[in-house]
Amino acid sequence: MSEQPKSAAAITPRKILVTSALPYANGPLHMGHLVEYIQTDIWSRFQKMRGHTCTYVCADDAHGTAISLHAEKLGITPEESVARINKERIADFGDFHVQFDNYHSTHCEENRELSSAIYLALKEKGHIASRKIVQAFDPEKQMFLADRYIKGTCPKCGAADQYGDNCEVCSATYSPTDLKDPYSTISGATPVEKESEHFFFKLTDFEEFLKGWTRSGTIKDETANKLAEWLDSGLQDWDISRDAPYFGFEIPGETGKFFYVWLDAPIGYMASFKHLCDRTEGLNFDEYWEKDSDCEVHHFIGKDIVNFHCLFWPAMLSGADYRTPTKVSVHGYLTINGEKMSKSRGTFITARTYLDHLNPEYLRYYYAAKLSSRVDDIDLNTDDFMQRVNSDLVGKVVNIASRNAGFIAKRFNKILSGTDCAPELTKAYMEASETIAQYYEDREFGKAMREIMALADKANAWIDEVKPWVVAKEEGKDQELHDICSTGINLFRLLMIYLKPVLPAMAEKAADFLQVESLNWEDSQSLLFNHGINKFKPLMTRVEPAKVDNMMEDARKLLESMADTTSKKEEKAEPAIEPLAEEIEFDTFAKTDLRIAKIVNAEHVEGAAKLLRLTLDIGEESTRNVFAGIKSAYAPEALIGKHTVMVANLKPRKMKFGMSEGMVLAAGPGGKDLWILEPHDGAQPGMRVM
Ligand code: 2FM
Ligand code: ZN
Repeated sequence: MSEQPKSAAAITPRKILVTSALPYANGPLHMGHLVEYIQTDIWSRFQKMRGHTCTYVCADDAHGTAISLHAEKLGITPEESVARINKERIADFGDFHVQFDNYHSTHCEENRELSSAIYLALKEKGHIASRKIVQAFDPEKQMFLADRYIKGTCPKCGAADQYGDNCEVCSATYSPTDLKDPYSTISGATPVEKESEHFFFKLTDFEEFLKGWTRSGTIKDETANKLAEWLDSGLQDWDISRDAPYFGFEIPGETGKFFYVWLDAPIGYMASFKHLCDRTEGLNFDEYWEKDSDCEVHHFIGKDIVNFHCLFWPAMLSGADYRTPTKVSVHGYLTINGEKMSKSRGTFITARTYLDHLNPEYLRYYYAAKLSSRVDDIDLNTDDFMQRVNSDLVGKVVNIASRNAGFIAKRFNKILSGTDCAPELTKAYMEASETIAQYYEDREFGKAMREIMALADKANAWIDEVKPWVVAKEEGKDQELHDICSTGINLFRLLMIYLKPVLPAMAEKAADFLQVESLNWEDSQSLLFNHGINKFKPLMTRVEPAKVDNMMEDARKLLESMADTTSKKEEKAEPAIEPLAEEIEFDTFAKTDLRIAKIVNAEHVEGAAKLLRLTLDIGEESTRNVFAGIKSAYAPEALIGKHTVMVANLKPRKMKFGMSEGMVLAAGPGGKDLWILEPHDGAQPGMRVM
C-alpha cells in the first residue's frame, strides 16, 4: 500500500521526437559514440518517466564512398555490409540499454521518397542551382575523388603522402591539383582532371532565416557564436550531388547523379520516424513534421557536425515547408586518460570490448556524472571511473538498501512498517524532485548526479546516527528498528527513481526487490507503508581493477590485429622528419624573433586531422592565433597553461582554417612522440629566447 501523491506537480504532456546522430555503417561502435547515445537515451528515458510521449529514433548512415569502400574491402556488397553492421550495432546498443523506439537505415524506401520530395520541393522554389565543376578523377576506378582520397607530395616542403588540401608537416594549404606526384588512395593511380555537372543547394537564400534561427533558443550561444563566423563571412552554395558510381539515391530526373550522403542523412531522422509511424497506432508523421507543429524535435549531435545540423538542415526543412528542430544539443569529444581516442595510441575501445569486461551501467553512470549542457570534451579516466562508480553507486546507493534490507527480511517478514521515522529527510528527498528533473531537462546530468549523491550522503549519515545494527540488539526496540529500516528502504527507493534514466537495469532490479510495478517520476512524491518487499540481492558489484586492465589489454590486441591489415600507404601517413634545410647565414637566423609564449587556450580544429588551434600570450596587448600540427601528441587540455617557444615574427599565413600568426617549436620523430619546447620555470610570456 502506498501513500497518495502529496504534490504531484502538474506536468503538461508533451510530444517529443528525439534523435542521435546516425552512425556511419563502416566500423564498430566505440566509446566515443557511446557518449552521445547514452546522453540521448538518458534524456529520452527521463522524458518518458515524466509521462511525456517521447519517441527516440536513429538509423545507420548507410550511404557514401566510405561505406562502399569498406564493403569492397570485405568483398561484399554495400547492402550486405550495412546489414552486417546493423546487426552488430543493434546488439551493442541493446546491451548498453540504449532504447530506441526505432532503429532504421538511411538506405530505405521511406528515405528515398522523403529525400526526393524535399529535393523536388527545393528545386521548385528555385533553391537548387547546377553548374559544371572540374574535379580529380581516378581513371582506374572510373570515379571522381573527394580530396581525402588524394595524397601526394607537398608542393612547399616536399613531405610525402600529404592530403589534397593541406600539408600536415609544414601546414601549407593548397588545392589537390597543386600536389606533386598525386595518387588516388583507392587505386594508387594518378588522378586526372575531369569536368562534370553538379547540383547545389543555394544556402545563401536562407542567410537571414538562419541568422534568426540560430539565435532563437534552438542552440546554445557558444554554438551560435561559432556559426556566426560562417554566417557573417557569407554562406556558400552547398554541393549536394555526386557522380556514379556512388552508393546512395539517384537524383530524380537526372541520370548517373546521386545525392551526397549528407543530403539524405538528416532526412534519415524523418525516415526512421516515418517507418515507425507507419506501424504504430496514434503516432502521426505529419503532426510532428508539419510547419507550425506543436510537437518537439530534439537532435543530439557531436560538435563536429554542427554546420550540417544548424545550417544546411534547418534551411532545407524550411525551404521545403517543414518545421525546423526545436533544439539541437551539442556535446564535445571523448578523451581516454587525457588522450584523444585513437588507434595509434591504443585508446580505441569498441563498445563490444567494453561489454566483454564491464557492466554497461558503470559507464552510463560515469558519463552522466561528467556530462553537462556545454560543448566541453569529457575525459574517461580509468582510475576516476573505478573510484566514482565504486564510491557513489556501490558505496552510497546500494549500501543504503543492503544496510536495511536484511532486518526487514529476518525480523519483519519482509514487510515495511507504517511509519516514516525521518520525516525531515524524506521531505528533503521529495522536494529535490523538481530540481533534479530540471537538471535532466537541461542536460545538466553531472549536476543531477551530484544532487542525488548529496541525498545519498544524507541518508547514510542518518543511518550512521540511528545505528540500526545497535538498535537490533536492544530489547523491546523492535518497532524502532522496523521504522528505521523501512525508512531507509524508502529513501533508497526515491534515489532509484531519480537514477532510473541513467541506470535502467538496476532500477528494474530495484523495482523487483521493492515489489512495485515500475518506478515513475511522480512516484517520488509517495512512500511505501505496510508494503511487502522481496529478498534483497546485490544490485551492483564493485568495478574490479583487473577487469579494467583486461579491457584495455583487449583493446590493444584488437588494434594490433587491425594494424596487420593496414595498407603500406596508410602506415606512411605519419610525417617523417622534414628534410634538412639548406645552410643559412647568421644574419638570417638573427632575424628570427623567438619568444616565450603562454598557451592560454588550445582547441581542436574542425576538419583538420593534425592541427590544434593555439591561443598564445606573448605579453602583447592581444593574443596570437597559431595552428600547430601537434594534435597527434597532445590533447588540447594538456597544453593549456604551459609555456613554450614561438617564432613571433613569422609572416602571418592564411590557412584553410584561418590566419596563423606565428609558429610554435616542437621536437621529436612525429606522431605521439612530439614535444613542444618547454622553457624552465620563471620564463614569462614575451621574454626573448636567445
Ligand atoms: O558524422 C557522422 O557520423 C554522420 N554519420 C552523422 C549523420 S547525422 C544525421 F545527419 F544523419
Ligand atoms: Zn609541406
